Amino acid sequence: MIQINTNMKLALYCLLILPVLFVLLPITPKLVASPAATSNARSASQLYAKYCVSCHGQNGKSQTPKGKSHHARDLTDAKWQDDVSDERIYNSIMNGRKVRGEMPSFSNKLSNEEADALVGRIRGLRK
Ligand code: HEC
Repeated sequence: MIQINTNMKLALYCLLILPVLFVLLPITPKLVASPAATSNARSASQLYAKYCVSCHGQNGKSQTPKGKSHHARDLTDAKWQDDVSDERIYNSIMNGRKVRGEMPSFSNKLSNEEADALVGRIRGLRK
């Protein structure tokens, strides 16, 4: 009879658990992260309401007092919408723009995905 003492039992348990850990560890962050990411994800409308409405207004015309004082542009303007590229809109949001007014930068508040979503939101303002 082989005597299995407590230390050997411990060692056996470790040997059994190790492969399980190796399988679980790489997938656990994904399992944990995906529901959290969904519930934390802010929609473009929420972001626009939180960060942009004060100057650009709900309708994008930038007729709010703050929008006027900063010389914010009318985002619904069809000619501007036709002329501007998605990249420029993205860059203006992330880096700000001080050409005709003072658009603050939002790179410290928005993820790349959120800025992308806002580009779509801005496109939806076209009249
Ligand atoms: C403090 C006021 C203010 C806030 C807040 C603000 N903007 Fe602006 N925005 C401006 C001004 C001023 C301009 C005009 C900048 C210029 O042309 O010099 C502008 C311009 C823009 C433009 C046109 C940029 C271009 O390249 O012509 C876009 C798009 C835009 N804003 C989107 C947003 C979005 C999206 C948000 C929210 C994340 C936002 N803005 C928040 C003031 C603001």
